[in-house]
Amino acid sequence: MHEGILMVITLLHCIITTFAKCNPIQCSLFTRPMQAVLSGLCEDLGIPFQPQMLKWKAGPRDFDGIWAPWWYESVHTSTGFSKSRRYPMTFPFALYDLLEQSLPFYNMLKRQVRRTTGSLLPPPPDPPLPVPENKKILVWVGDELLPRDSARVSVFDSVVQGGDAVWEGLRIYDGKVFKLEEHLDRLFDSTKAMAFSNVPSRDWIKDAIFKTLNANGMFNNAHIRLTLTRGKKVTSGMSPTFNLYGCVLIVLAEWKPPVYDNSHGIKLVTAATRRNSPNSVDSKIHHNNLINNILAKIEGNLAQAEDAIMLDQDGFVSETNATNIFMVKKGIVLTPHADYCLPGITRATVKDLVVKENLVLHERRISLSEFHAADEVWTTGTMGEITPVVMIDGREIGDGKIGLVTRQIQSAYKVLTAGLGVTIPRNAEA
Ligand SMILES: Cc1ncc(COP(=O)(O)O)c(C=O)c1O
Repeated sequence: MHEGILMVITLLHCIITTFAKCNPIQCSLFTRPMQAVLSGLCEDLGIPFQPQMLKWKAGPRDFDGIWAPWWYESVHTSTGFSKSRRYPMTFPFALYDLLEQSLPFYNMLKRQVRRTTGSLLPPPPDPPLPVPENKKILVWVGDELLPRDSARVSVFDSVVQGGDAVWEGLRIYDGKVFKLEEHLDRLFDSTKAMAFSNVPSRDWIKDAIFKTLNANGMFNNAHIRLTLTRGKKVTSGMSPTFNLYGCVLIVLAEWKPPVYDNSHGIKLVTAATRRNSPNSVDSKIHHNNLINNILAKIEGNLAQAEDAIMLDQDGFVSETNATNIFMVKKGIVLTPHADYCLPGITRATVKDLVVKENLVLHERRISLSEFHAADEVWTTGTMGEITPVVMIDGREIGDGKIGLVTRQIQSAYKVLTAGLGVTIPRNAEA
């Protein structure tokens, strides 16, 4: 991180500790019945409440500052708290630049706002995070690293306007990014298919990834959600002709162990929602328009399954809402053609492993009943790695335990992830 930023942070720390003694009060407090608000504040501050606090004489006071005549123009004519407005006043747009410049200071004060008995109800506590360490992470957005809650894209961004973005999920093992080049190849293929312009270079994206990982100290057990949006638009709308700012890169790196129970296996159900075909949105584009898969995931959640199998338009199995799928029958490993599924990087890696392990691999259309009657089933994906499936639609797979071929592929994949990958460059002193 920039030396300058560290100096600013130190300076702000001094200011904040000074402000901490001031206890600013949020003006929304004054939209509530004043007597309750004031008596609550008095109670918190240890001052006895007196009803005459609700009224005063019109006119200036001796203790007003020299700015008071301008600032207190209306207050000097008032004799009590007035009813708050329902709608805000029209903003004086001549001050727009000032609004932008002063916002960080307003936000700084807002963080110090006193929560009193008289104040609005305190906000509900933050929900627990699956990995609490991810509360304090730095996220790359555009061309800078920002703290989690400040890492945002514009409301004009294409990803907000139409899910118009492409993405990759990458995993970090022992100081290396696994299959980095393969993920970037797929990312660039997706941007080509979606006709993105002003796409950043491969080296620039790699640099952003390495800077993000270094800044977070993430060299193992982490996962990156890499998103490239078509960028900000000059006005809301669908057309990419409004995209005149260039793409926006997001590197969201989190501490994340594999997300499924790979030691005991998972349950799947079949969703009624079909996987997109090249007739609609080609599943070979790794885009952010994930509603199709999210609808299937909802079906899985409602059935208390870890994920849902999605079929193609002819009723053959394509993949799950988040992973590719393999099965074993009489020693032969099968996986569906990548016609309706994402051509997963882990899928390709596992296909190679199956051959290297001297097993027979068939890639063909596979029906659901073949999966129900399989000896073994597993799913593949960067996020969850190799996940045994022990039940599909209430049918036990094989004997309901993790099969031998599944274990063989899991161990071979482990060896591969421990050894392969692009080394994350670090500072010499690290
Ligand atoms: C729908 C879908 N299938 C499969 C996968 C697994 O792909 P990969 O092995 O490249 O992580 C993903 C991951 O993004 C996915 O979203």
